[in-house]
Amino acid sequence: EKGGHEYFMLKEIEEQPEALANTLRGHFQSGRIVLDEQRMSDQDLRDVDKVFVVACGSAYHSGLVAKYAIEHWTRLPVEVELASEFRYRDPVLDRDTLVVAVSQSGETADTLEAVRHAREQKARVLAVCNTNGAQIPRESDAVLYTHAGPEIGVASTKAFLAQVAANYLVGLALAQARGTKYPDEVAREFAELEAMPSAVSQVLATVDQVRELGRRMADSRAVLFLGRHVGFPVALEGALKLKELAYMHAEGFAAGELKHGPIALIEDGLPVVVVMPSPKGRAVLHAKMVSNISEIQARGARTIVIAEEGDERVRPFADELVEVPAVPTLLQPLVSTVPLQVLAAEIARARGYDVDKPRNLAKSVTVE
Ligand code: F6R
Repeated sequence: EKGGHEYFMLKEIEEQPEALANTLRGHFQSGRIVLDEQRMSDQDLRDVDKVFVVACGSAYHSGLVAKYAIEHWTRLPVEVELASEFRYRDPVLDRDTLVVAVSQSGETADTLEAVRHAREQKARVLAVCNTNGAQIPRESDAVLYTHAGPEIGVASTKAFLAQVAANYLVGLALAQARGTKYPDEVAREFAELEAMPSAVSQVLATVDQVRELGRRMADSRAVLFLGRHVGFPVALEGALKLKELAYMHAEGFAAGELKHGPIALIEDGLPVVVVMPSPKGRAVLHAKMVSNISEIQARGARTIVIAEEGDERVRPFADELVEVPAVPTLLQPLVSTVPLQVLAAEIARARGYDVDKPRNLAKSVTVE
């Protein structure tokens, strides 16, 4: 049942191309993005003037990733909130607010309560969920199912990637409804998403290299993760995976924040995983990241760099280099997250921990 793998998580990591393909399938029909269950009118979708993404843990990170794309495509303000914070604040919501509730299980207590709170305030709720007929989609105005298949490993991998893809579909559906993207542009973005399963398959070819690297990092006391733009939530997700699986102190930072505090943590030999933007995509981001890496390397950090293949400028600053294929900037998280999942799983395994069942954690958090 583990498909020849030692643990479910590795099998699920390898199922990611399929999870992405299945999640996208059927959502572009007759030149239009379609959702699954839309119990709200097209007009309601057009009237949306603000988006909140509410979720917990990795699902929250999927929302942070999607914010970049949704704002860019729709020109709508998008706020991404931890469900446990959202529900106890007094968020400003009305009937033109779209609340996107992202949950693999569809049963997470805080996310469910956030949905209820949003609906009481007359906001529309769209659920992104991996579990058919779960409570969150049942209580929502629209649903988009991720088709990652059952995820056994407690740490989310394929469900996370599928959530990112589904959130992007929500962004495209909104852009289409609002007319902020022409139909041919929506079609092009969808086609780029459809190319992602094969890009992720290419990343999976680096699994052995990353596992070997993980074994060499198993004695580290702490690991930092740095990213910028869409690479920032990827850094947060990489750190979360390492915390929950390897019980190691791990923290993700926005690279631009280094000088505002975190650089004080850099000491000799500290591993820092850096998620590089594409050198071709946003040249400014790339140049800034190269300068950030040179600064931390000069202070003794051991840099582990996830970069686009052929990125020659970053090479001199990479003590370890993991290459991922070139993809459009907004879609990079779908490739750059994968090595971080493998890294965390392998470090945990090398430390002798049960990768599928990390201590103190439950797959579905139905109590607060
Ligand atoms: C991390 C992880 C958790 C979940 C979180 C939300 O690897 O799996 O952080 O992402 O508990 O769960 P769902 O998506 O079921 O609401």
